[in-house]
Amino acid sequence: MADAHEKVETNVSLLIILVTIVVSIGGLVQIVPLFFMDTMTKPVEGLKPYPALQLAGRDIYVRESCMVCHSQMIRPFRAETERYGHYSVAGEFVYDRPFQWGSKRTGPDLHRVGGRYSDEWHIAHFMNPRDVVPESVMPGYPWLADNLLDGEEVQHKMQVLKDWFSHPYSDEEIANAPQAVEGKTELEAIIAYLQNLGTAIKTVR
Ligand code: HEC
Repeated sequence: MADAHEKVETNVSLLIILVTIVVSIGGLVQIVPLFFMDTMTKPVEGLKPYPALQLAGRDIYVRESCMVCHSQMIRPFRAETERYGHYSVAGEFVYDRPFQWGSKRTGPDLHRVGGRYSDEWHIAHFMNPRDVVPESVMPGYPWLADNLLDGEEVQHKMQVLKDWFSHPYSDEEIANAPQAVEGKTELEAIIAYLQNLGTAIKTVR
């Protein structure tokens, strides 16, 4: 026994292999059960895949890298829940590909920003944040108001999400996608997306 121990301690390659095996087992024991837990894989009640306009808005959020300054992940600590509302749960993100959790908070967490401000507030804020929050360091995004959405692109994305990732869109929703975003600007889309954020779980703040 003492011999075997010495062998492992003096043979780096063997040590690396054995450590890898032990760490893999430890990792698998923690990770694999998550794939089978309903709270991790099932959408929370009331959660729907993003409608066309919100889906387009989400992609603009991703394109503009809002995530570099905003997280979408309320941690289960009192300081967080008192400020933002109910902590984030896994079942709220099943239709987020990729998720926008982030970890950098130059600005506030946005996971439950839905319904907190009026659309008019958001418009003013995106055109020039300092008009509504004088000390803000957030950049303005005025061009979003000039760009129109591409209905066919949104429709194609919905089809891909349905075919490849089983997002439960009906054929009708997909067929009507171009109509749903027709004439809408990127600004309207990103605001629609924000106004829905975190609303599947009702929060008392
Ligand atoms: C350089 C960092 C930075 C970037 C990039 C940024 N923000 Fe912000 N954001 C802030 C800061 C700081 C605040 C707080 C001051 C304010 O309200 O303007 C804020 C506030 C907000 C608020 C109000 C949140 C609240 O609860 O009061 C929203 C909504 C928002 N940002 C959305 C966005 C979106 C959408 C994008 C991407 C298009 C974005 N931000 C990009 C820094 C940033």
